[in-house]
Amino acid sequence: MTDDPREPTRTEVHRVADPEATRVASYLAQPGEVGRVLLLYSGGLDTSVMLKWIQDEYEAEVVALTVNLGQPGEDYDVVKGKAVNLGAIEAHVVDAREEFATEYVLPAIRANADYGDGYPLFTALGRPLIAKLAVEYARRSGCDTIAHGCTGKGNDQVRIEGTIATLAPELKVIAPVRSWQMGRDEEIAYARKHGIPVKGGTESAPYSIDDNLWGRSSEGKWIEDLSHAPDDDVFQLVTRPELAPDEPQVVEVEFERGVPVALDGERLGLADLIERAAEIGCRHGVGIVDHIEDRIVGLKVRDIYEVPAAAILLPAHRELERLTGTIHQNQFKPSLDQKWAYLVYAGLWWEPLREDIEAYIEHVNQRVTGKIALKLYKGHARVVTRESPNAVYDAQLATFAESGGLFSQQASPGFIEIWSLQSRMARRVHEADQG
Ligand code: ARG
Repeated sequence: MTDDPREPTRTEVHRVADPEATRVASYLAQPGEVGRVLLLYSGGLDTSVMLKWIQDEYEAEVVALTVNLGQPGEDYDVVKGKAVNLGAIEAHVVDAREEFATEYVLPAIRANADYGDGYPLFTALGRPLIAKLAVEYARRSGCDTIAHGCTGKGNDQVRIEGTIATLAPELKVIAPVRSWQMGRDEEIAYARKHGIPVKGGTESAPYSIDDNLWGRSSEGKWIEDLSHAPDDDVFQLVTRPELAPDEPQVVEVEFERGVPVALDGERLGLADLIERAAEIGCRHGVGIVDHIEDRIVGLKVRDIYEVPAAAILLPAHRELERLTGTIHQNQFKPSLDQKWAYLVYAGLWWEPLREDIEAYIEHVNQRVTGKIALKLYKGHARVVTRESPNAVYDAQLATFAESGGLFSQQASPGFIEIWSLQSRMARRVHEADQG
C-alpha cells in the first residue's frame, strides 16, 4: 500500500486476474502442485472414477487408502485389488476398528452423544479418524495432496478438510466430486470408457450409504421426498419391527467407569461388544431413525439411520449415569453433552473445547459402574433393571411406608413451606397488583 497519489490504485480487474486472490482456501491444491495424491478410497463408483481421473487430469501418482471402521460385509481384498488394477502405486487397507471404538465411539457413549434428537454421530465420529489416518499415510508415502470423495453440499467435507488443515498444514486437498461437475451418467460413461467396474444396476442412482460399526445412514432417492414413508428396501441392517421375533429378549450391559465391558455377562473388547450389541438390536428391529437434520452448511436434509448398537448402549449408559448422579449433576451434564455432540457433528473434533468438555465427562463417568438390562421387542428397547454400587439410591429410604433414619416425613411440611416461599410471595404481590 502507498499513499503516493501518482501510484495507480489496483483495480478490481487486477485482483481477479491474480490466481492467489481468487483462491478460496489456501489448502486447496492448484494443478501444478499435485505430484502424488493420497486418495481416500472406498471402492465405490465416485472414488474409483477419481482414482483414474486424478492420474489423467493431474498426471499424478495415486496412493489409495481404505479405512476399515467396521462397515458390515465389506471385502477389503477386493477393494485393494480394484485400487491396484486402476493404477494405484500403493494400496493400503487399515483396520482401525479398535481405535475407532475406544478413541471415538467411547467418548460418544460417555457423552450420551446425540445430535438433533436421534443421530448418534457415527459418520461424524468416523471422519476425523479417517482424515487423521490419511494424513499419516500421506506423509509416510511422500504425498503432497489428499483427495476425498465428498460433495460440496455435505458435512463430511468440513470434517475431513478441517482435520487435514489442522493436523497437516503442509498438505493440499483436492475434492474432485465437488469440482468436476460430472453427473452420475457421465461418471458411469467415464467408468465404462476406462474399464472401471460398476457394480449393481446402473439405471437409477442407488441410496447414498455411509456406515461403520456405530451405524448406517441412507440418503437420496425417495428419502428426499419428505412425504414419502420409508420403502422397505432401505433397511439393510435392522429387521423391520413388524418382522422381528414375537418373543422379547432381555440384554444386560455391564459398565465399568462408563465403559461397556460385558454383554449378558460375557466380557468383550469394545469393538466386539458394539458389533454384538448391533446383532442383537438388528434382530429385534431397534435403532431405526427417520431424521430431519440441520447440516452445518445450512441445508436441512432427511436421513434414514440404522443404529442398532447405539439404540442399546446409549440408553443403558444414560440410565446408569443418572442412577449414580445427583439431581444437580443430572441436570447439568446434558447441556455439556449437547455441546460435545454439536462440536463433533460440526467437524470440530480437534477444537480444544471438545477435550475440555471431555475432562468433565470423564470425571463424571468414573462412578458409572454397574449393570443395566433392557428388554428388546419389535423395535423398542426399554430399561427393565438397574444395579450399581454407586447408585445414589436407598430402597429403604425410597419406600412409601417407612419413616425415620435420614428421612423424617414429619419434617416434610417444614421443607415445603420454605421451598415454596418465593412462589407464594410472588403470587401475593401479583394479586395485590391486580387489586
Ligand atoms: N447426515 C449425516 C452426517 O452428516 C450422515 C452423512 C453420511 N455421509 C455420507 N457421505 N453419505 O453426519
